[in-house]
Amino acid sequence: MPKIIVAIDGYSSCGKSTTAKLVAKQLNYPYIDTGAMYRAVTLYFLQNHISSTNKREIENALSQIQISFRRHPELGRNDTYLNGLNIEDEIRKMYVSEKVSDVSAIAEVRHALVAQQQRMGKSRGIVMDGRDIGTVVFPHAELKIFMTADPLIRAQRRQLELLEKGELIGLEEIAENLRMRDHIDTNRAESPLRQAEDAVYIDNSLMTLDEQVEMVVRLADERITSSLRSREMKKAK
Ligand code: DC
Repeated sequence: MPKIIVAIDGYSSCGKSTTAKLVAKQLNYPYIDTGAMYRAVTLYFLQNHISSTNKREIENALSQIQISFRRHPELGRNDTYLNGLNIEDEIRKMYVSEKVSDVSAIAEVRHALVAQQQRMGKSRGIVMDGRDIGTVVFPHAELKIFMTADPLIRAQRRQLELLEKGELIGLEEIAENLRMRDHIDTNRAESPLRQAEDAVYIDNSLMTLDEQVEMVVRLADERITSSLRSREMKKAK
């Protein structure tokens, strides 16, 4: 079977990662959470007081950063590692969310992470989610999804997610953080969040998780079949 790239982009907290993870499981593909990579760099910048305007300092910091993903032996989830340390829980905290859009707007940061993401998907057969996957990282992905949901629903989902991790944050604070991140993510000069022309638009406000996953897997199956057909046609020529 030909392997395809599934690129899922969209606004903060619209369920991209949850959907992408389950889609990857059904397709038996690895899943890469690129937001986690930007969060890891943000954590490093915060811990090491890296200025977001000093180009040399940024480039030097980036050369010190190694990001990887490893399976958690008990929880079965894919955890993010920064220079060999598990930072999965730390990068989801609010103080990282407050800074991540600023750090991910830095051109040098984007160039470094996009290059790593392209290496990860070199042999295809991958599900990746983020803000610029279908537009910049893999503009030739076979399946592109642009996902969104009502802002209030997104804030409520995010609040529940944080609560499950023991962080109790008011709905208004979360909604404000999402508004700010959406604004920075869509207005930055370097690869802003936008829907790729050939992306399938999904508003999941009124959809269940199962429905979303089923829809994306069905689309992926269609793309795999058409890749197979065009491969066979090429062979027959
Ligand atoms: O998906 P997330 O909310 O964990 O992403 C955190 C931030 O990282 C988000 O506000 C914007 C940035 N990001 C990005 O600029 N490009 C990506 N491909 C993924 C995330």
